[in-house]
Amino acid sequence: MLTFDRGTGAFDQFVIEETTFDAQAEGGYEAIFCQGNGYLGQRAALEERYAGQTRNLFVTGTFDRFHESEVTELPNLPDLTNLRLSVNGMPFSMEQGDLVSCTRRLNLKTGELTRYVQWKPPQGKPLTLCFRRFVSMAREHLLGFQVEITCAGEDCAITVESGIDGTVTNSGTQHLYEREKRLFGGRILFMEEETVQSGIRCNLYAAHSYQVDGHETATRRLPVMRRRYLGETVSMTVRKGQTLRIEKLCCVTTSRDLLTLDGEAALREAIGMGYEGLLCESAAAWAALWAAQDIRIDAQNGYDQVAIRFALYHLNIMVKKDDDRVGIGAKGLSGEGYKGHSFWDTEIFLLPYYTFTQPDTAHTLLRYRYRILEGARRKARDHGYRGAMYPWESAWIDDGEVTPLLGGADIVTGESTPILTGHIEQHITADIAYAVWQYAQATGDSAFMENHGWEMLMETARFWASRATWDERRQAYVICDVIGPDEYKEHVDNNAYTNYMAEFNMRLALKRLDDQDIRHVAEGLWLPVPDENGIIPQFDGYMALQAIDLTRYKQAESVGDIFKDYNLSQINHLQVCKQSDTVLLLLLLEDRFSPEVKRRNYEFYEARTLHDSSLSKATHCVLAQDLGLDDIAYDYFHAACAVDLPIGTPKSPEGIHSAAMGGIWQCVVYGFGNVRLTGGKLRIAPRLPKGWHRLSFRIIWQGQPLAVDADEKGVRVTNLGREAVGVRVYEQETIIPGGQEYAGSGMA
Ligand code: BGC
Repeated sequence: MLTFDRGTGAFDQFVIEETTFDAQAEGGYEAIFCQGNGYLGQRAALEERYAGQTRNLFVTGTFDRFHESEVTELPNLPDLTNLRLSVNGMPFSMEQGDLVSCTRRLNLKTGELTRYVQWKPPQGKPLTLCFRRFVSMAREHLLGFQVEITCAGEDCAITVESGIDGTVTNSGTQHLYEREKRLFGGRILFMEEETVQSGIRCNLYAAHSYQVDGHETATRRLPVMRRRYLGETVSMTVRKGQTLRIEKLCCVTTSRDLLTLDGEAALREAIGMGYEGLLCESAAAWAALWAAQDIRIDAQNGYDQVAIRFALYHLNIMVKKDDDRVGIGAKGLSGEGYKGHSFWDTEIFLLPYYTFTQPDTAHTLLRYRYRILEGARRKARDHGYRGAMYPWESAWIDDGEVTPLLGGADIVTGESTPILTGHIEQHITADIAYAVWQYAQATGDSAFMENHGWEMLMETARFWASRATWDERRQAYVICDVIGPDEYKEHVDNNAYTNYMAEFNMRLALKRLDDQDIRHVAEGLWLPVPDENGIIPQFDGYMALQAIDLTRYKQAESVGDIFKDYNLSQINHLQVCKQSDTVLLLLLLEDRFSPEVKRRNYEFYEARTLHDSSLSKATHCVLAQDLGLDDIAYDYFHAACAVDLPIGTPKSPEGIHSAAMGGIWQCVVYGFGNVRLTGGKLRIAPRLPKGWHRLSFRIIWQGQPLAVDADEKGVRVTNLGREAVGVRVYEQETIIPGGQEYAGSGMA
């Protein structure tokens, strides 16, 4: 059960707390309590073992393809979290003896995760245990763990076994083979493994220290070396009232790192600083991030404040901000789900956040797409098209398309369901072009456009020009046989989202070069228009599909419940959307549709959308807010937050949903803050939900940081930069000089 810090003042809610222990629910907590720094991702598996755990440690970019029958994925590296304790011969386990209390807290401000346990072994007196850990935000290769055991009632014989455990897999796939295991100087444990296909060497170092009441113990360490495991064990007596502190500091390097680091030397330096010193340094790096990026919500409901900070926390640990050879995984670095692959999630759901708050990170992510352009050209050629057709799923820069071919069980055929997205979910190509343009508009980064952006826009436009075919009957170009964002519909023609975004993509390219082929197709492309009821058909024939009662599926606890009754081919014939499709189009190209068309389509498709993808709810929140459906927007905001941060038990053991984190930011900044980039201009026109008294956030526009401070009446926009910027505040176009503020009123 999750609880949230209500803080003592309006603005100090930074803590997420779990106060019950249920081994079966651990997976969900491991994901949301995940720690990292963009290079490393460490899931929050508990030190001692329980069924239901998934111990995951990832290093960005270390992709490996185990066998040609599988796709490349991010390997799970040897586990460092393991640390087994036994007290008077009894292994410590919260499932044995008497668990008096257990509280786990993730402090989003410092990045530290703690667990306080009061435990009474089956025989013996109660003990208290305090576990702490962090992944350094200041030294990306470093992780620290600490355990304190206080023997309150009696002398205790304690045995500790801890080390580097290479007996891990990715759901059974063994990506690494052992190269070397050894001990340096009797203290530093070292294990080197190599990925089987990509040949990446992964080096893991760990060092332990043991103190009783602050004094180093002279305990004898016995090395334990066995197949795929290297550790040490110590035994000692801790007297009644004494506290034993164990520190385990670890360092991870790989041969794919951007910069080569001597892991052993780095760990020795870290040992000199100790857990506390390293944590302070890391917390200072977090403090700098919060100073630049925190979003403050002064509201009756403390959950809202914690939820946006939770999203900001994950948005900062899922990306390696300086490495353009990797994208962001759909689960960040928090779990094995989606194999570490990047999707359109990055461009449509995450990039708005990075573009408006960390343009350098957005630049890195777009350069990654530039670097995979060659693979996109190859994919286009292989499919018989020109230009660049981006992979639906991407991994390492030269991997090309990495979407698996088979998915879950088909309840009708009993076989695996084929996954067609890698072939025909093509809108990602236009989504990337859209993100390039948004970045260029928001930052004014013409160097990026000259060196990368225009080439990407031209190549993607060339793809669409060759992809569209001439339809005699319609006397228009059409795009047939695709999957739109709604993946419950396969082999559709003229998906409105795809066609409009493709046309937008081609028109962007034409701003640079008047290419006749592109112009011809852009001007002649079929763009589905609203029917007599104002509804834009999601694709040809959508309106003729059967509508069914979706109440049961909409109320279901888990996603994908409809597959218990229908298989994908049957769902193809129903008016059921997995996620927002046309609704998303209305938001991305917002100035192309009238408020009336938006309202009608929102209502029509909302009734038919199951939100079986985490990407969907935030889009509905923002559009509902645009349409003045304030209460619905607020409910969707909560629904978007609850994807990973439910009031109750988290339910996604495969990892957090990266795009949903970007979605939470969009709900707050795009939705309630009503910040939007349209026609090259920035609009800021906040309208706060009912229980909110104040909302403050920062964005960067044209290189100038702007502080936005809104309350129930209006907004103050302060230009914290030096150069003047043009902004529309509510209905007023204005220029705000550097260092100046502008106050606008939202009152009618
Ligand atoms: C969604 C896609 C998304 C993918 C990764 C799928 O369930 O339908 O839109 O890209 O998950 O998050």
